[in-house]
Amino acid sequence: MTDIKGRDFLKLLDFSASEIEYLIDLAADFKAKKKAGISHRMHEGKNIALIFEKTSTRTRCAFEVAAHDLGMNATYLDPSGSQIGKKESIADTARVLSSMYDGIEYRGFGQEIVEELAHYSKVPVWNGLTNEFHPTQILADFLTVKEHFGKLKGIKLVYMGDARFNMGDSLMVGCAKMGLDFTACAPRNYFPDRALISECEKIAAGSGATLSFETDVAKAVKGADVIYTDIWVSMGEPEKVWEERIAALSPYQVNSEVMSLAGDNAVFMHCLPSYHDMKTAIGKEMCEKFGRTAMEVTDEVFESPRSLVFKEAENRMHTIKAVMAATL
Ligand code: CP
Ligand code: NVA
Repeated sequence: MTDIKGRDFLKLLDFSASEIEYLIDLAADFKAKKKAGISHRMHEGKNIALIFEKTSTRTRCAFEVAAHDLGMNATYLDPSGSQIGKKESIADTARVLSSMYDGIEYRGFGQEIVEELAHYSKVPVWNGLTNEFHPTQILADFLTVKEHFGKLKGIKLVYMGDARFNMGDSLMVGCAKMGLDFTACAPRNYFPDRALISECEKIAAGSGATLSFETDVAKAVKGADVIYTDIWVSMGEPEKVWEERIAALSPYQVNSEVMSLAGDNAVFMHCLPSYHDMKTAIGKEMCEKFGRTAMEVTDEVFESPRSLVFKEAENRMHTIKAVMAATL
């Protein structure tokens, strides 16, 4: 029987395929319970702290709703609302919070920060996104893939765009662990870190996954089941990188031509938020500045019936609930 009680959830590299599968299946179970109105307040009276050094809609709301559904209370610490980093070290924060709370979520910058927090914490720490990894997002994505295709093994997932950051890295790890065929489709200097690729290649050898790195869009997407992308400029990156990202990544935009090259089976996925139109302040400003109407995905693909993005977003809540329920 899978037991991950007391464990931190910092990155998928720390978990076996059967543990990841257990979390995805537990999430499906919670989802069914929630839809049927069956109460599952299994952590009644517990308290969790949510530290956000970067902004969030999905992750914050998912943790808060999931906590309430499990019978818990949540305290939200916003990017400027605590002493963390400025007046108090991570080590001290971890010791203070873990004396009051039963679990701690952290969203912020370097992976080493959440690892340090976990090192000093007496209670489970959950990674709600770092520059390197976004592990709860992958659980939601894989639940969505499983719901749509009925399986994970053998699914061909193509990640288009900047594959060097949290989403590209985490999807590669998740695919390697769970036996999917992962392709990063990007300019050569936008592929994941060489050391992480080597680590994932070793994992893939045992799971039956394949990993490939392709600069040619038509070759990469042929026969794909999932076309996945993320924003080209992530939280915390300077505004000045927009110009080079647009120049380098424009050929890798997910548009209707890419979807038709992929074939009729292919679905579109995105962790969100997305610059698929000009209805956001940043999206509008950058589209106007660079003479575009969308960035990483066109509005046509984003709004098409092949787009699973809002199912993924909902699944953030069910999967985060599974992570908390299983580790507390
Ligand atoms: N996908 C995701 O993590 O969204 P938020 O930034 O809104 O939490
Ligand atoms: N790569 C994005 C993911 C957002 C969920 C970022 O870090 O901003």
